Amino acid sequence: MAFPPRFMDELRSRVALPALIGRRVRLVKRGREWTGLCPFHNEKSPSFTVSEDKGFYHCFGCGAHGDAIEYLRRAEGLSFVEAVERLAGEAGLALPEPDPEARQQLDGLERLQAVLEAAADWYRAQLAAPAGAKARHYLAERGLTPETIERFRLGFAPEGRSALKQALLGRGLSEALLIESGMLIAPPPGEGGNPAPAASYDRFRDRVMFPIHDRRGRVIAFGGRAFGDLKPKYLNSPETPLFHKGRVLFNLALARTAAQSTGRLVVAEGYMDVIALAQAGIAEAVAPLGTALTEEQLEALWRLVPEPILCFDGDAAGQRAAARAGERALPLLKAGRSLRFALLPAGEDPDSLLRRGGRAALDEVLARTEPLSDLLWRLETASRPLDTPERRAALERDLNERVGRIGDETVRGYYRDWFRERRRELFASRAPAFSPGGGAKRWPRSGDAGRIGAERAGPELKARAAGSPNAGRERLILAIFLNHPALLDRFAEDFAALEIGSPELDRVRSAILDELARNPGLDSGGLQRHLSAQGFARALDRLVGPEAAGLHWFAGPLAALADAAAGLEHVLRRHRRALALRDEFRRVEADLAQEMTEERYARFLAVQREMAAGEGDEAELMDFGVASGRGVAT
Ligand code: UTP
Ligand code: MN
Repeated sequence: MAFPPRFMDELRSRVALPALIGRRVRLVKRGREWTGLCPFHNEKSPSFTVSEDKGFYHCFGCGAHGDAIEYLRRAEGLSFVEAVERLAGEAGLALPEPDPEARQQLDGLERLQAVLEAAADWYRAQLAAPAGAKARHYLAERGLTPETIERFRLGFAPEGRSALKQALLGRGLSEALLIESGMLIAPPPGEGGNPAPAASYDRFRDRVMFPIHDRRGRVIAFGGRAFGDLKPKYLNSPETPLFHKGRVLFNLALARTAAQSTGRLVVAEGYMDVIALAQAGIAEAVAPLGTALTEEQLEALWRLVPEPILCFDGDAAGQRAAARAGERALPLLKAGRSLRFALLPAGEDPDSLLRRGGRAALDEVLARTEPLSDLLWRLETASRPLDTPERRAALERDLNERVGRIGDETVRGYYRDWFRERRRELFASRAPAFSPGGGAKRWPRSGDAGRIGAERAGPELKARAAGSPNAGRERLILAIFLNHPALLDRFAEDFAALEIGSPELDRVRSAILDELARNPGLDSGGLQRHLSAQGFARALDRLVGPEAAGLHWFAGPLAALADAAAGLEHVLRRHRRALALRDEFRRVEADLAQEMTEERYARFLAVQREMAAGEGDEAELMDFGVASGRGVAT
């Protein structure tokens, strides 16, 4: 709705901005202006100023800037019209009468809205009625409490072609209005000799009804779920003057207040996800209505929080939808404003995860979200060979293509730098291929010490196996070479130089290197036979044999060589990083022991945190296996 300029001027002149902002922010008068800590970013010294004369605020820290209306939009998540209404109400200023045409339009919308409210009430009553027993049973089966059912105003549309129609006509609502509201379907005039239209009938029959509210909590449409596996599973209201699918988010009205207090907003895919989240105490959840997130929906999310969390289904379709949302966000990114992505276990949606693992399982997922930049990087680099200059150039080109779609210049620049940095890291960690054909010098030889006492390796291996993540990686690396000795072509130097903490595993490594130096071209069967003959049988059983527990698929004998190579690179990189971090930790620890300064202590904590995060990341090894297994054809 547009307000006349004179009204807006009057409104602005009546608003005392320092008083308005002063309700939430402690402001101190300094000269003609007021200053305080910026409510829009974290700061320790005040760079937020409010000018009473000019009627606007400005933050020298984060650049936030605007008038009273903009302030209410950002600080309280109000829409433009709502902000105007609030300010006018507080200033005792009457809202201007809309012009007759607008008035008529508004009346029309109000009438439609009344139909939907009446329908919602009626559906709710049907749910409570005897005929609603099966719907009540269904909702209870799905774990919804009576409070949740009430809170979302769920209902039941009974069978029959005109149950709702009769009820609402009986209340004096016109058939035309019922059709316009989307509640009745008017069949098109019959073809041929029968021009008279058949009677209109209820759109929703024998379904559980989910009212869809606008941002102010008024019913504007419905989703209706079939019982069981009937298709279509959900039927939604059509587009009407009240309801534009691409602009609406399910549960926005309730989520908005919750998001304000938690500073978080979760975006799920389905009605049931949002409802289950709310029941579990996460009221700040919304969902689009079965379509990809639109730009308008993204903007609506960002009005509430700077980084909404997309928590889509853990299946291929859900991941595609998440990727699509990320793509769509690129042109709209701004400093500080982005998306984060929660990675659900395969086959779960938030609803099913909550039912299986409770709130704890969901909290864990929400605590480990991935930023948009990581998602894009993962999508571009997953299972793509980067072993030649041309392939590396292709990666750079594709990343730049994506970055080019970012609208904001500053954000674009940082993305470019960031991807460049990640590429450098990635390429640096991939050792150039070992040149074959070197004759006797082909394999680096290790000392002979390793072979002595090899048979004792067995029991010790087992004792250490479960221990440190480092030992786990060492075993994994050995397993890959035992099952894919051809990889020594490319990774001989990495393998020989690898720091191995366990003396037993180190002996196995030496034996592999020596064996392949003697017999280049040996396949995995041959290699393992020869090693067994040298007294390593028990060790092999535990590394690649029947006792090898939790071997990643890419380390197994059936993995394609390319997959094994990609897996190996990943593990090697992780191993080096973990070892470097361990050394760093020893250094800062020694520094700290020598002299306890604030700065050294902070450094110590930082490295400790990084190490803890790295250990958590070990779980990702598995994800990596899954992701690349999908993409690489074997
Ligand atoms: P889902 O199938 O993931 O929905 O579709 P859900 O909420 O998990 O459904 P339950 O748990 O089986 O009851 C996600 C969303 O896509 C839309 C709906 O908005 C749904 O919530 N959808 C889905 C439809 O519009 N029509 C359909 O046939 C299916
Ligand atoms: Mn579901």
